[in-house]
Formats: sequence, C-alpha cells, structure tokens
Amino acid sequence: MNTITMTRMLESAVYEHVRNGMIIGLGSGRTVAALLDVLARMSRSMSIDMASIRFIPTSLQIKMKAEELKMSIGDESLIPSVDLVFDGADQIDANLVMIKGGGGALLREKVLMYAAKKVVILADESKYVDKLTLPIPIEVVPYARVYVSSMLRSISAEPSVRVNDRGYPVMTENGNIIIDTAFSSIEDPYSLEHRLKCIPGVVEVGLFSKVADLYYKAREDGGFDVIGR
Ligand code: A5P
Repeated sequence: MNTITMTRMLESAVYEHVRNGMIIGLGSGRTVAALLDVLARMSRSMSIDMASIRFIPTSLQIKMKAEELKMSIGDESLIPSVDLVFDGADQIDANLVMIKGGGGALLREKVLMYAAKKVVILADESKYVDKLTLPIPIEVVPYARVYVSSMLRSISAEPSVRVNDRGYPVMTENGNIIIDTAFSSIEDPYSLEHRLKCIPGVVEVGLFSKVADLYYKAREDGGFDVIGR
C-alpha cells in the first residue's frame, strides 16, 4: 500500500476524532504506530495539548512507541472511561466482522473495544474481504494447550501453536500462548466466536463480531473511504 495514501487517511482520522482531554485507547501493530507518528506531527497545527490526553496501550510495542513520542500513558484503571480507540485489523469481512491478533494483542484490544465510547479501525483495502479466510488467533492458557487443541480438532478446525522464527512458542503479555486456528469456512462469526470462548482454557478469541463504529479503508487508487456501521 502506498504510504502517502495511508498517511493521508491517518491524518484525516486524527483530525476528525482526536480532541484535548480525551482518554485514548491504542490497539497494537504497525498501523497504530504510524498513527501515533501522524498525531505527534499534527498536534501543533491542530492546537492539541498532548499533555491533556492520556493513552492506554494494549501492548509493550505500542507503549514504547508512545513513550518515544513523549505521550502520557495511563493505566488500566482508566479503561472504563476510554473515549476513543484506534486500532488496526488483520482481515475485515463484508459485515465488518474482523480477525485480529496477528501481533498477539487480541485480548487487550477486545477489552478496549468493548469499553470505549467510540472505536475507529484503520486498514488498507487489502484487508477488506467478502469472507474471512485467515486462521483465527485464539489466546489459551498453556495448561489447556492440548485439551483446547483437541476440542478445536473435534469441530474440524486445524489448530497450530504460534511459534517465533526460532521455534519457541510465542507467549502473550498475559502469559498465555496463541493457537492460530484455521477453519475451512467461517459462516456465522458470532456463533463461532461464542462457541470458541466456551472452551475451558480459552482466554479470548481473535474473531471480533462486535462491529466497530467507523472503518477507514485506504484504497490503492490513492483515496480512502470511511464506513460507518
Ligand atoms: C495486534 O494483535 C493485531 O490485532 C493488529 O491490530 C493487527 O495485527 C493489525 O496489525 P498491523 O497494523 O501491523 O497490520
């Protein structure tokens, strides 16, 4: 994706939604990191007093990015008061249901998404699809790894414990593992999300059937769309 298009889209999202005094939740990933760079740059021209905004990160990755930009970071006690969340996605279907968790931050991202007054998703058009096809990241307590995997196989899914490039299991910031789970097709995301969450040992599921408020879509032709629910 053309970075100029992405930047233009991020600038518009910042201009439309960021105001002084807000508590802003931050998803994780490259898109949110890029949004923070844009916000830091635009704050002067928009007369934004960055000291008046508190940011609630969902991962060490995005916390470090916010620290680098001297943004003020709040703790999780502020989550019920979050005004706005910016987040990315791995895949978004025609009904705006998402797969998230490519970076492993799905649990905290889902908490913020449910808590926030407004959720804004930012993605390029390659992530928008008719039907979800990616494996669904599922956060699982290590003790239940084999049990959860067997339950997933029993519903004809293909579970695979996420490992890093040296073969070590990836541990989330909550001390859990991620089981990336492929399904031959995902017909009813809402039912599937809730069915998976009912397996003991599953902490959270990277299928987000709760629809966000706004979806920004950067197009290959240089423009972008804003889709409301
Ligand atoms: C983090 O766990 C994910 O949910 C991210 O939101 C998602 O992977 C998008 O990341 P990028 O912005 O890096 O594509």
